[in-house]
This record gives sequence, C-alpha cells and structure tokens, in this order.
Amino acid sequence: MKKFIKGVRFAPKNYSDEVEEKIQHYKKEGYKLPSRHLLRTEEQLAGIRESAKINTALLDYISANIREGMSTAEIDHMVYEFTTDHDAIPAPFMYEGFPKSVCTSINDVVCHGIPSTKEFLRNGDIVNVDVSTIYKGYFSDASRMYMIGEVKPELQRLVQVAKECRDIGVQTAQPWARLGDVGAAIQEHAEKNGYSVVRDLCGHGVGIKFHEEPDVEHFGKRGTGMLIVPGMTFTIEPMINMGTYEVFIDEADGWTVCTDDGLPSAQWESMILITENGNEILTE
Ligand code: MF3
Ligand code: CO
Repeated sequence: MKKFIKGVRFAPKNYSDEVEEKIQHYKKEGYKLPSRHLLRTEEQLAGIRESAKINTALLDYISANIREGMSTAEIDHMVYEFTTDHDAIPAPFMYEGFPKSVCTSINDVVCHGIPSTKEFLRNGDIVNVDVSTIYKGYFSDASRMYMIGEVKPELQRLVQVAKECRDIGVQTAQPWARLGDVGAAIQEHAEKNGYSVVRDLCGHGVGIKFHEEPDVEHFGKRGTGMLIVPGMTFTIEPMINMGTYEVFIDEADGWTVCTDDGLPSAQWESMILITENGNEILTE
C-alpha cells in the first residue's frame, strides 16, 4: 500500500462527473484552471450563503437609513451594530489594519474610504458603501452606490453605467467562459460610454477568506485568463471613472484610493457563485 505524505488534504469531491470530465479536458488543452480548494463544497456553500444573506440584509438596512447630513462614522456605526446583532463580524475591521467596519467612498474616492466623524454626506454627493461580513468563519462582500439629495445628471449617468458594467460582468461570468471575457465585456461598456475602468484594483475570490484567488480584472481580452468553473465564488466590482483610470492612495491614511484627476468614480459590487448552468448572485 502506498503511504500518504503527512499533510495531504482530504477534499470531498464537490462536483459532478460531468464537471470533472470537463476539468480534465481543459487541463489537457493547457487552460489555466482554478485550484480545487476554490471549488466550494456543499457545506462551505451553506455557510457562505448564510453569510451573504446577512450581508444583503445589511445593505438593505443601509439603503433604508442613509441620509443627507449624516457622517460616514454614523454609517460605520450602523454597520457595526447591525452585523454584531446578527452574530457576525464586519470583515473590514482590523483587516490588514483597516480601522473601521465599512468602506465609505465619496465622489472622487474610488474605494477604501475610511468613515469619519468629520465627513458628512452632502447634497449632490455620490457615495459607495462597501460591506463585507464574516459569519461562522464564512466571508461575503458587496457594495452599492447612493445618491444624496439632488445629484447632477452627469453623475447619475456615471452611477447608472457603473451598475450596468457590474451587471454585464455578472452576465458574462458563465461556467467554462474565461475571466478575460468578463473584463473585456465590462471595459467595452464603460469605454463605449466615455468612461474608464480602474486597473489597479480588481474583484477577487471570496468565501473562505476575504480575498482569495483569482484576481477578477474588470478590463482585458476575450479568450484569455483563467477558466470559470462551477463551484467558484468571487466578486465582480468594477470601479468606473469619469476621467482617467489612474488612481493614487492617500499617503495620510494609507487606504483611501482617489482618482488622479479628481473626477468622480462609481462602483457596484456583487458576489456570485458559478453553477453548472449559469451563476447565482449571493449578495449585492
Ligand atoms: N470590501 C473591499 C472589497 O470589495 C475590501 C475592503 S478592504 C478594507 O474587496 F480593509 F478596506 F476593508
Ligand atoms: Co470585494
């Protein structure tokens, strides 16, 4: 009898023979495939779904309560209270040193804005609220845009097109398609509308950890990149800029990502599960 080397993982087989056959086929053809631990087991999926449910309820709660004049620290407080009331943990809190429970990104802030008692939502602002939840060790992640008071039509259009980009990305993320197909579809829609796609930040695998493989770029070339396989869970979260796609990180806090040219940016984020015949939105 062969001896197992200590440390070999016992992984339950979490896909059908049909999927296994396709994996083998594409492997032989030399495609880049996700490693097997990225294909969720039924047990993992049950946990991820519960986490995602809380995450969506949290976004609904924010949607119902966000108001002009409120500080971003108040949004942070709502997120912390709601999440802990549901026996869950806000994933951003102390993640690589991030000091708050949620990212709040206003106007030219692309993402990772840090809530503050000194920052207020003003008439005409567009703000992204990005929430991520840990429940029983399982991670979920999604974000929405909010328009505060009377928002200029050109900003409304940016928010709308950013949402369409996210939705087109989700529609393109089909089993046995390629990640490059997703990026290309998003980029095409953004550029067709006169906008640019941020290059320096991407979507990501999520579920067992906050940020896992693969990177999900929101630009790219069709027919390139990793094969999309049933059982994967990842985010699609394109950041769409009105001007240049170049961004910089605020030196003062080490987190806040801003557009280089000071023009506004918008982002919507969904977390999806790839199934054998399509995909399922877990939270958005
Ligand atoms: N929620 C962000 C994402 O969509 C990540 C935020 S990391 C944090 O991936 F530390 F800033 F919270
Ligand atoms: Co994310």
